[in-house]
This record gives sequence, structure tokens and C-alpha cells, in this order.
Amino acid sequence: MDPRRILLAISGGIAAYKAPELVRTLRRADHVVRCALTPEAERFVSPLSLQAVSGETVRRDLFDAGEEGEIDHIGLADWADLVLVAPATANLLAKMAAGLADDLVSTVLLATRAPILVAPAMNVNMWSHPATQANLAVLRDRGVAVVGPDSGELACGWEGIGRMSDPSVIAVAAAAHGVPPTLIGTRVLVTAGGTAEPIDAVRSVTNRSSGKMGFAIANEAARRGAEVVLVAGVTSLPTPFGVRRVDVRSALEMRAAVLAEFDEASIVIKAAAVADFRPIEVSGRKIKKEELAGGASLTLELVQNPDILQEISARKGDRTIVGFAAESHDVLAAAKRKLSRKGCDLIVANDISRSDAGFDVDENAVLFVWPSGEVEELPLLPKPGVAAQLFDRIEKLREGR
Ligand code: CTP
Repeated sequence: MDPRRILLAISGGIAAYKAPELVRTLRRADHVVRCALTPEAERFVSPLSLQAVSGETVRRDLFDAGEEGEIDHIGLADWADLVLVAPATANLLAKMAAGLADDLVSTVLLATRAPILVAPAMNVNMWSHPATQANLAVLRDRGVAVVGPDSGELACGWEGIGRMSDPSVIAVAAAAHGVPPTLIGTRVLVTAGGTAEPIDAVRSVTNRSSGKMGFAIANEAARRGAEVVLVAGVTSLPTPFGVRRVDVRSALEMRAAVLAEFDEASIVIKAAAVADFRPIEVSGRKIKKEELAGGASLTLELVQNPDILQEISARKGDRTIVGFAAESHDVLAAAKRKLSRKGCDLIVANDISRSDAGFDVDENAVLFVWPSGEVEELPLLPKPGVAAQLFDRIEKLREGR
């Protein structure tokens, strides 16, 4: 992705302490970064640290003659290819929605013609408040993009949605934002996460898939303007913005949900880790140890689940269908066999034996394996980066038809 001139606007929330790391992540990708702080942000992060990591003078005061002399606020607004607001507090989002310009940051945000990306961070109740959601709706209507927030433990002691996204995720979104919405009018169906096959009333057989890859794909499709349906298996991830989510648990439920959405979809991406087998018998009650003969072992008999990818590929029509291949050895050979067996347009193969990529981590190193025999090896990338590469290929494939 091309280097950009990024103005990082920092508002006053606890997540501002991550700003220097964000600057470093952006600079590692060769972007030029200048920082502008609200007066409240200075309570959480030092302008001197930001100056040191950005290598640029930090702007704070709209009326400081020295600062304005070097680059005035309109010059700063015009300089940026992208304005990134991280963290974006509820207060700053409200000011942006209302068009207020009472300090340097809000003035630059009103004056700039560059695309704007915000990374909100706040208490869960402030985030879900109708006022904040209404402000976000106004901003989105104006073309402002939003990354995060994530769910988890919040600095205020609450648990829930409100954590600023990880700097590496924001950096990928920043590099990609402003890209034209190339998938407007396209329906994309994505499956993500693992399935859980019930054994009894409380137990199931499942796998370690986190759903992160599939969720990143759904997010990327929505960002490019597609209408997105995400069939989500077992995962704790929040629904990406603009995505319709259908929750399922077992492979049979996933199959039913995929078939129900299939006719309307033009692109189908099966990133889910579907369990290949399910217990033949499911006890409606909890199996008790004392009920087992001899009190020792329990034997589960498993039956194969239907192969959803194979089934939909058999009636592909003019859809583009992408499968994933999770392999622990002989990755390429296994992926090629899987591609011809399943009959899809592309297999995204990953080596799940690597500890730094694939299952349950934020990055992935994948191979794109094409029916022509062509193989592309991508470097280790954050999962949103893999998703962007995937859609670049899918769009090219569909253009060539
Ligand atoms: N898949 C599916 N239905 C299944 C099993 C897998 O739709 N019952 C899809 C997955 O979503 C993925 C692709 O098929 O896109 C490959 O899944 P993977 O688990 O790697 O392969 P399997 O087909 O299960 O084969 P194996 O376990 O033998 O490697």
C-alpha cells in the first residue's frame, strides 16, 4: 500500500497512551505522520514523546503564533492525505457531528478535505448511548470511516465494547481508507469461526478457530460498499459495522444458514472452520460419570458432516466462491487437492502449525492457490491486510469475466 501523509488527531481519553505506538506502527509502513492534540489529550500523552517518535513538530494550540508560523491550521488540514482520529472520544465525535471548531483538532477536522478515519475509545455506556450512535450515523453518512472499538476490559473498570482497536489494526485501516467503494451492489456471504457439535446438554466438540480472519473479511467487504451477510460460528467477536450477522453453532446449522443466503450472494467466502464430524447421538441431558458402565471411559461415535463448500460449489452459477484450507503439513499439495475436490474459484491456504499465523492469532501468512495451478505466497500480514489482498484478487477475477 502507498505511503501517505497522515495527520493523527489525538483526543483526551486514556487510550491516548497508545498514540506513540500507533505513530511508530504507521512510520514503519513508511507513512509520514504529524500529530495534533486536544488540550485534554495532553493529560494522557506527552507532546514531547509524540515529537520524538514522529520526527515532526506536534501541534496543540490554534492561537500559538510559533506553531501557526511553522504550519498554520489550514495548511495542516490541506497537508494531510488522511486525518486519523485516535482515540476519538465521545465528546470529539459529538463536536465533529455538530461541526464545532473550538480548538485546533476540531478546526482542522472541519477544514480538511482529506478522508477521515476515527478510532473511538470510551466507556461502554457512552459508546452505546443513543447520542453517540446518532453522531456516528451522521459522521458515517458524511463518509467518515470507523475502526473499532473492540470489546474487552475497559480502563474505567467496565467490561464491554469501548476499547480502542489495536494500533496494528488501525494502521491497516488507515492505509486502506479512502479506497473507492468497489463492491457497491454486490452481496457477499462470509462464514467465520469454528462450529461446535453437541455431545450432550452442556458439552460439545469444537476447534480453536477465533473467527478473526472471517470477521476481517466481512469488515473489508462492507468497507468496499458490499452488502454483507456474516454466518458466524462460535466466536466472541463484535459484529463489524454494516454487516448483517447470523449466529449458528453446529455445522448443520451453518449449512442451513448458508443455503438460505446462497441464492442472493454473488461472492461467497468460507473462512469458517467447520467440524468434519459430529456425535451420532446427542444426549438431551448432561451425561453423568456414574451412569457409565465401569465408571471409566466414554466412547463417542462420530458421523461426517456435510461439506458445505463442496455442496455450494456444485451449483456455483456465476458466483465467485472462495474456500480456506487449514493445513498442518504439506500445505500446498493439500490445498491443491482441496481446490480440485471442492470445485471453488480460489483456495486460501494457511499453515496452522505456525505459532505466529493462522488459528487464534491476529496475523496470517497465506497462499492463494488458483485452479490454473498458479500460487501466490503472501507475507505475514495482519488479518485485515490479508482480507484486503483477497478482495483485490476477487475483484480482478470478476472484472476479467
Ligand atoms: N468446509 C465446509 N464444510 C465442511 C468442512 C469444511 O464448508 N464440512 C469448508 C471450510 O469452510 C473451508 C474448506 O471447506 O473453506 C476447507 O476446510 P478444511 O477444514 O481445511 O478442510 P476439510 O474439507 O475439512 O478437509 P480436511 O479436514 O480433511 O483437511
